[in-house]
Amino acid sequence: MPESVPLSSRSRVLSGMRPTGKLHLGNYMGALANWVKLQDQYECYFFIADWHALTTDYADPSRIKLNTLDLALDWLAAGLDPERSTIFIQSHVLQHAELNLLLGMMTPLGWLERVPTYKEQQENISTKDLTNFGFLGYPVLMASDILLYQTQFVPVGQDQTAHVELTREVARRFNSMYKTDVFPEPVALFTPSPKLPGTDGRKMSKSYGNTIGLTEDPKSVTQKVESMSTNGQRPRHTDSGDPDQCPVGDLHKVFSSSDVIAETQAGCRAASIGCKECKTLAAKSVSEQVAPIHAKRRELEADVDRIWELLRVESKKAEARAEETMKIARDALGMSRDFRDIRKLFVHKEERTGSKNIANAWSDIEVVSRLDGDNMHLSWEKYSLGLRAHWHWRMVPREISLSESKIEFGNNIARELEEPLITTSGKRVLTTVSEQDHSAGWQFYVPQKSYEVWVLLSYRDKVSVSNHYDREITAFILPQKVFSQPFAKAKKSLKKDEKIPVTIRKDGDRFLLSIHGSELVDITDLQSNYDPLR
Ligand code: TRP
Ligand code: SF4
Repeated sequence: MPESVPLSSRSRVLSGMRPTGKLHLGNYMGALANWVKLQDQYECYFFIADWHALTTDYADPSRIKLNTLDLALDWLAAGLDPERSTIFIQSHVLQHAELNLLLGMMTPLGWLERVPTYKEQQENISTKDLTNFGFLGYPVLMASDILLYQTQFVPVGQDQTAHVELTREVARRFNSMYKTDVFPEPVALFTPSPKLPGTDGRKMSKSYGNTIGLTEDPKSVTQKVESMSTNGQRPRHTDSGDPDQCPVGDLHKVFSSSDVIAETQAGCRAASIGCKECKTLAAKSVSEQVAPIHAKRRELEADVDRIWELLRVESKKAEARAEETMKIARDALGMSRDFRDIRKLFVHKEERTGSKNIANAWSDIEVVSRLDGDNMHLSWEKYSLGLRAHWHWRMVPREISLSESKIEFGNNIARELEEPLITTSGKRVLTTVSEQDHSAGWQFYVPQKSYEVWVLLSYRDKVSVSNHYDREITAFILPQKVFSQPFAKAKKSLKKDEKIPVTIRKDGDRFLLSIHGSELVDITDLQSNYDPLR
């Protein structure tokens, strides 16, 4: 890929390692050396999977943090470059845990039980109890690591095949279940792993105790190579040997130049070179490659504070990228923190121009209700606005939609109170609040404006035991036919901007309405009857 391709449009690569201590040559050749090369071509994320370490080491986590720093030092020494890659710690990016939880919801147990390494490790590792929930969930956490960065390529060893395959299945299931394409299906990039023998001739592995450390002291590296087994080749130095059967021969193939390989192979077969000399040459080849890494590590170790700070800053960068994905993933599962999508189900207007006033008014109610007598009267208009908002939001049945006028009133609450709410069929609805709380009834004042529905909100305060007011709100919803005649009559006898007095009187358990002294009408059935708004 040409140099000019912007970083953000490159394919993303992600991989991780569990922090189990310093790396050995097998880890370097089998993975890290390859990662170093990938940095030029891809947008790379490399992280230390400390939570994965915990799935097996939960009983003794004492070394995880130290191992994390050790691993980071080895990575940086070997050439992972924070200028080109994001190098971070899994547990510093909480989104890994969050996505793990979300994916855990939709990953069938059977998928996890069938992962080959699950049963295998449980049986083979006798020193640890791996019947824990976290260990079963190991592949889900790994899927989270990968999917969190919408990763295309995952450089891993063959042993991780099943995990990457499961990740692909989880991605597919998530995308189809929640009708999204947030997660690309990642592809494993298998690192060609050369046959790298350990000091005893078996595969180099920590569990065999036959490793040569990547950043081990050069003297000790030389010593280890020089005392390596020849796997029974050339028992006497006059015998010829087969370098393909000798671990030292394999070491040459990985670390030596083609000249040295040719020279030692020929010498081995012709018995013209001593094994000691051959091993010295092998040790030299290994040293030549790892000496600069060793030196670099010593340099980095001089200021570990700086390394830890670097990991912290890099983890922040990773977090920012992870959060982009999480916004989509959360949303798909109904866990978005954005209120707008459901708000419309509760509030019937896109933008409530008066919302600020209403909110203020509503909070004033709390204050007002703690005052007494005359003081309460002073804030009546604000109070009314709050009460109206309360009625609109909490008492009107949800399927009824009322919109508010778009007029910006500023501080003129009195005018806002006269502004109608509009039903979906276009009816104008007046809401007005009773001016006084009479035990016998309520008094309202209605402006001389045309509305199709009147909503009369009345309240009754009861002082409760704790000396708080309990406010009981009653809403009467009057269709036009109830008030049109007396309203027309009242208009004739009142001045133009005088309000029309309306009373509701309590008579036993009946409610009787009178408009400017008109005949009493029984409106008991109209209490909380929202039909006129439908
Ligand atoms: N399971 C990997 C291993 O043991 C480590 C790992 C954890 C990983 N999360 C990952 C590797 C994500 C690649 C991508 O080697
Ligand atoms: Fe092994 Fe080298 Fe000896 Fe051949 S000469 S047996 S390759 S150590």
